[in-house]
Amino acid sequence: MSKSPAVDAIRAWSRGQRPRLAIVLGSSLDAVAASVSDARSLSYRDIPGFPRPSVSGHAGQLVIGRLGGCEVLIAQGRAHAYETGRMDAMRPVVEALAARGVETLVLTNAAGSVDPRIGEGRLMLITDHINFSGTNPLTGDIGDERFVTMTDAYDPALCRRMRAAARAERIDLAEGVYMYFCGPSFETPAEIRMARVLGAQAVGMSTVPETILARRFGLCVAGVSGITNLAAGIEGSAPTHEHTGRVARILVEDMTRLLERFAAGFAAGN
Ligand code: HPA
Repeated sequence: MSKSPAVDAIRAWSRGQRPRLAIVLGSSLDAVAASVSDARSLSYRDIPGFPRPSVSGHAGQLVIGRLGGCEVLIAQGRAHAYETGRMDAMRPVVEALAARGVETLVLTNAAGSVDPRIGEGRLMLITDHINFSGTNPLTGDIGDERFVTMTDAYDPALCRRMRAAARAERIDLAEGVYMYFCGPSFETPAEIRMARVLGAQAVGMSTVPETILARRFGLCVAGVSGITNLAAGIEGSAPTHEHTGRVARILVEDMTRLLERFAAGFAAGN
């Protein structure tokens, strides 16, 4: 028994399997989990303290199995700060993964592009982020561990592996800085002009809280955005939830191939 009922529930379910790699699937990207072999799932409802995702396109379960031959844990569905106002909504998930021996966390999301050269349907490797929320998931945390170093938050070695996986799959992987807005309303064109001036290539409503939490708990992080739209005002764009979901369900095929190849490389140690 550990001190955490969530960790105990996951341990009982995972039956001795201890994947070192975990993946969080973003909005409408749940279908990546269909490529997991020998898959077993556990609903967040059956894990004490886990969030209950309320957004369409988020299943809210853990899946364990093999992806690209590599043992993985997949968090199918996330809780966003905009659902509850809590930036630390994913803390129980990240903390439990770390306690179960996960060392590497791949975060995926649907995002809007601030750069017209990174068009709808592309995948973008996140090389850094801007937390534009004015708050932090570690607010209220105690102890010196809260002063997390965020240099190289998106691990350079994992970035290299992700680029290699994209090359092997002939996926034209863009790269850039992801800027976090709280949502749930989309940004205004003026906010997107600001994002551009500040050096962002993509904007979205997730991932950044989890990256900060993951670094707090000692995990290495990689991030991949699926570009579902041009951000507000870029070439006249007016993003909608319906549209972003539709495009995410199309680019899930490339996302799956990329993550499968990445996982295979991870298992092989290269
Ligand atoms: N803005 C914020 N979040 C998003 C977008 C966007 O344009 N597209 C997908 N998620």
